[in-house]
Formats: sequence, C-alpha cells, structure tokens
Amino acid sequence: MSTPAIHYAQQNHPRFLDELKALLRIPSISTLPEHKADCRKAAQVVADELKRIGMENVRLIDTEGHPLVYADWLHATGKPTALCYGHYDVQPPDPLDEWVSPPFEPQERNGNLYARGAVDDKGQMYMEVKALESLLAANHKLPINVRVLLEGEEEVGGGGIAAFVASKPPEMKADFALVCDSEMFAPNLPTLCVGLRGMIYTELEVRGAKSDLHSGMYGGAAPNPFVALAQIIAKLKDENGHILIPGFYDGIIPPSADELAAWRSLPFNEDEYRTHEVGARELVGESGYSVLERTWARPTLDVHGMPGGFIGAGAKTVIPAKATAKVSMRLVPGMTPAKSFAQYKAYVEKIKPAGVDVDVRLIHQGDPCLVPTDNKYMRAATRALHDVWGKDTVYIRSGGSIPIVGDFARHAGLPSVMMGFGLPDDNLHAPNEKFNLKNFELGIESLIRFFGEAGG
Ligand code: BES
Ligand code: MN
Ligand code: MN
Repeated sequence: MSTPAIHYAQQNHPRFLDELKALLRIPSISTLPEHKADCRKAAQVVADELKRIGMENVRLIDTEGHPLVYADWLHATGKPTALCYGHYDVQPPDPLDEWVSPPFEPQERNGNLYARGAVDDKGQMYMEVKALESLLAANHKLPINVRVLLEGEEEVGGGGIAAFVASKPPEMKADFALVCDSEMFAPNLPTLCVGLRGMIYTELEVRGAKSDLHSGMYGGAAPNPFVALAQIIAKLKDENGHILIPGFYDGIIPPSADELAAWRSLPFNEDEYRTHEVGARELVGESGYSVLERTWARPTLDVHGMPGGFIGAGAKTVIPAKATAKVSMRLVPGMTPAKSFAQYKAYVEKIKPAGVDVDVRLIHQGDPCLVPTDNKYMRAATRALHDVWGKDTVYIRSGGSIPIVGDFARHAGLPSVMMGFGLPDDNLHAPNEKFNLKNFELGIESLIRFFGEAGG
C-alpha cells in the first residue's frame, strides 16, 4: 500500500540520486589529514540539506577531529524519539588502478551506483535524510520525534562522537537509535543486524640500529627490524587461526543455542562465499566453527600493512633502522578493548627478539555489542520490512564494527535498530564499492514505513 510519503519518494527518486552523487564527489576520507576540509564540506552539505527539508536546530558540532552533524524535529508530542545515526566519512580509495570508474566520480552501471562511500555509509545515511524529507514534504510532520546525529570519524574509530555521547548532552535524549550502516544477508532478504564485533587497531614499531645501514657491511651482525617484526607476527596466531596471546579468549560469551540454530538456517553456501565474495582457493580460520561463527562470534587478528624500509621499484641493499606493522584484532561479547590490548602488549614485549626495541601503540578501539531484540522498535522495524519486501526478516550479526553503537546503550541507554541495505558483494573498503539502486529506493521506503510503525 502506498502512502503520500512513499509516493513522494518514488516521484523524487532521480533527484535523490543526483544529490547523493554530489555528496559522493566530496572525498571525505577521515584518516588522511589532507582531506580534513573535505570532511567538513561533506558535513556542511548534509547539514544544509537537513535544514532545507525542514529539520530544526541544525548545526555542526566541533570535536577534536571531524565535526558531528546534528538536527532535530521534536513536535510529535507523546510519541517516541529516534536518534538517527550514520557517518559521512569514507575509507581511502586505494588501490586506484583497480577501480573501473574513479572512486569520487559516481557512476551508474547495471543497477548499481559505484563510488567510494556509495554504501558505506553516505548512501545509507542519505536514505535516512530522504525518508525524513519524504515524510515532512508529504505530511508536513513526522510520525515520531527525530534527532539526527552523524559523524565523520567512524572509519577511524569514532573518537569525537564517543566523547560527545559520553558527556551525556541533552541532544542524546531519545528512546532508541536507528543505525543505517549494515547489510542484508542476501539480496531481497530483509535483515536486521543484532550484533557487531568490537576492535582494537594497533601499530607495532620495531627499532634496531641507530640509522639505516648497508646490508653487506653490517648484515649478519646488525638486527633487522623487519625480520624481528615478522617473527613477532608469526607468534600472534597459529596455523589453525588460534590467537596465541595468553588469556585472549577468557570470558568470551558464546552465542546461544537458539542463535546458532537460526544461523544454520540462513541461506549460506560456503563454496559460493569462498569463490564469489572472498575469491580465494581456501578459507582459513578456527576449526570447529562455521564461517558465520568465525566472522560474527569469534575474535580474530589481522595485519593490514607493514610500512617502512625500501618499497620502491628495483633493489636497495639496506637494513632499515625501523619497521612498523598495522595490526588489528576484532573482539566479541565478553571481551573489552582495554583488557585485550593489555594482554597483547604484554605478550609482544615478552616475545620480542633480542637486539630490537618494540613500541605497541593503540590507534583506536571500539567495544563489541549485542542489541536487544525484544522491544517495540525492533518489532516496528520487522513489520516495516515485511511491508516493503514481502518477507520475514532475518536477524544476523556482522563481523564489522561500529564503535558508537555500544556507547549508545552504555551512555544513553538507547537500544539500537540496525537496519541496513548493503549487499554482501558491495565491496566495502575495497575498489569498486557500490550501492544497489533498488536497495537505495526500497531502503528509503522501508525507513518511511519504519518511522510510521514506530509512531503507531
Ligand atoms: N559499516 C561498517 C561496519 C559494518 C560493515 C557493519 C558491514 C555491518 C556490516 C563500518 O563503516 C566500518 O567499516 N567500521 C570499521 C570500524 C573501525 C574502523 C573502527 C570496521 O569495521 O573496520
Ligand atoms: Mn560504515
Ligand atoms: Mn566502513
């Protein structure tokens, strides 16, 4: 059944898409200092749009990093208040030569919109803005009270929003959070995400000699920090995917038997996942756990890059004075970033080879979270999704992290409804990131219905 707001959204779809493309052209890469102004520009564009559609008290809130965007509309007396969350920052686009069309020149191809940030998270964040616009334009009011809180540092750990939420400002007074930054388990399968892994992102710096050295003159006598780093990394995880940090697994809360049973009934084909999504000869990881358990409910450890030394074309015979590695660990319920980091740091210091010094630095962190499912907002979301997609919702976890979701519960007492419309092959953080155009459209309709159900 259509409503005036859904009709409005359908009529205005081409303009919504053009606006999203304009937002995607701004390279708001939060981790790169040279894009600081672009981050602010993206924030300002969204703030201007929130103002234009009729949201009130619209402003940028400065943080130590990139600004937050805030807006509200609080005239639905007696109705609940939603806190609508999303992020306008994106990951770096490299490797550039693997993109079919340039990352910041959005292009439509075969039913998808390709650009960095298309699905993570500008496209999904914009669905929230366009659902609000459609409701306000069609009805001159919203079915519930709404606050909007967007951040520009999600991809770098979300320090700014975490400090804001922890300070318990009046802007956080709400009944639940709506988070549009997750994915559907499969195309056309309405999905609510009920759990995220946490993480600690660290950097190891190993130092050997006082400066770079000729590897012929000194090789054999001088310590090599890259070799030392490789030796350290090789002792972090064994060949069965088991992390060797003492105590690391202590206290983990496993999923319930019901949850595991539900996961087993999801339409998941391991071979298809291996070939189509991962594209590798074999999957790795802890034996005794399914792929979904390994990625949703078990901690893991990965190395992202090892900057330092000689990386140019050709050969340079040098023993570098220092070597670094970016190492992160995903955490699951029962683990905390502080405890995991302390265990890791102590272990690295213990296993470091002779002749080198090692610094273990924490770059950012986020807690794991599980959201409650037995509340009227989750039920409203489930009804809304059924209306639009004609199917029962599946409840899944995700292996990714959105650090602020745990803080919403801890500091503001808000249960989160994580309603996302990404697809498993959307290439988040990778070349050729995309957002399915039908999902953008039906995502907006789902949100329009959800706001209605949450108020009714
Ligand atoms: N939106 C993702 C997380 C996500 C992906 C949730 C898929 C559910 C399904 C988010 O933008 C993200 O990438 N987060 C980072 C967080 C980190 C940098 C603190 C991540 O998971 O690596
Ligand atoms: Mn995201
Ligand atoms: Mn991301």
